[in-house]
Amino acid sequence: MWPIEIIQGDITKLKVDAIVNAANPSLLGGGGVDGAIHRAAGPGLLTECRILNGCKTGDAKITKGYNLPARHVIHTIGPIWHGGNSGEPELLASCYIKSLELAEENHLKTIAFPNISTGVYGYPKQNAAIIALNTVSSFFEEPHQVERIIFCCFDAENKDIYHRFTRGKTDFVRVTNPAEINAVADLAKEIWNEYYTPIIGENQVGYMIDKFQSAQAITAQINKENYKYYLIFQALEPSGYIGIQQKCEELFLSKFYIQKEKRGNGLGRRAFEFIVTRAKKLGSKFITLTVNKNNTSSISAYEKLGFRNEGPVVADIGNGYIMDDYLMKYIIE
Ligand code: APR
Repeated sequence: MWPIEIIQGDITKLKVDAIVNAANPSLLGGGGVDGAIHRAAGPGLLTECRILNGCKTGDAKITKGYNLPARHVIHTIGPIWHGGNSGEPELLASCYIKSLELAEENHLKTIAFPNISTGVYGYPKQNAAIIALNTVSSFFEEPHQVERIIFCCFDAENKDIYHRFTRGKTDFVRVTNPAEINAVADLAKEIWNEYYTPIIGENQVGYMIDKFQSAQAITAQINKENYKYYLIFQALEPSGYIGIQQKCEELFLSKFYIQKEKRGNGLGRRAFEFIVTRAKKLGSKFITLTVNKNNTSSISAYEKLGFRNEGPVVADIGNGYIMDDYLMKYIIE
């Protein structure tokens, strides 16, 4: 499941590790969601807020949740909309980043956001939604303890906006927790059987899935062999995955798979662009991969992406099976 959920409801009712409050710099309560949270939390929340000495726009502070079902409240101050040229987008993004940083520091796993600044502060809802979704998507591209983010929309307009923007989005989630590792293992089982059984037969596929793509094998690769895995999400659903291993200037693209029914609409190219962006961030000069000699469709797809065939590479993968592949190389401009 995509770690981001969009609901319509009252944030004060959510039993999560933290709900985020769209507060004002005094932190002494107000109207809108601020008023609702203080009413539901009871007087203890105001007492704790009084000693926090306020909060700057774009920043965030954490308190206990008191009578709320949520364990904590993260108070953040959204920007007031003045037309969009006074730093509002950066300040709004900062509200989400600072709130998530506090959630990570406090080892929280579930956090719910209201549509910050889109009420009294007048931020246009569509602009705010794009910033909220893109900021949270970038957060999930890095290792994270937070496992689930809920966008709690109070009104139907905001909910429809969030759903509309997420339907067309392609997201990449850095595989960090057991739920994400299991999602990769499930995709591997589905895709490898469909992809490789016609090429190398059922027995070798079964052996390779157990040895290289079980949840245990993936966990060991991440923890001991410097692998980074990413789940590819298209229209909220896990649609494929990527496994990379950095070796000095080389980025080895160990796994790059997309579900059969999700191919053909540019998802592969968008995913490859993400891989190249990651490679550049890591300072890699080229990307390599190995592909079975008989997997002609993948070989031509990689050549279309700009990979060059560097010739055969053969390896014993155990149990009497031989990996008979081509090595392919992509030079990063
Ligand atoms: N649950 C979830 N969302 C809610 C709730 C609720 N119970 N009540 C209101 N909202 C929504 C609003 O519909 C809006 O989409 O929260 C979003 C943010 O609106 P505001 O609460 O008005 O917050 P904001 O626009 O950031 O303005 C902050 O308003 O209440 C004062 O003290 C607050 O001065 C600060 C300013």
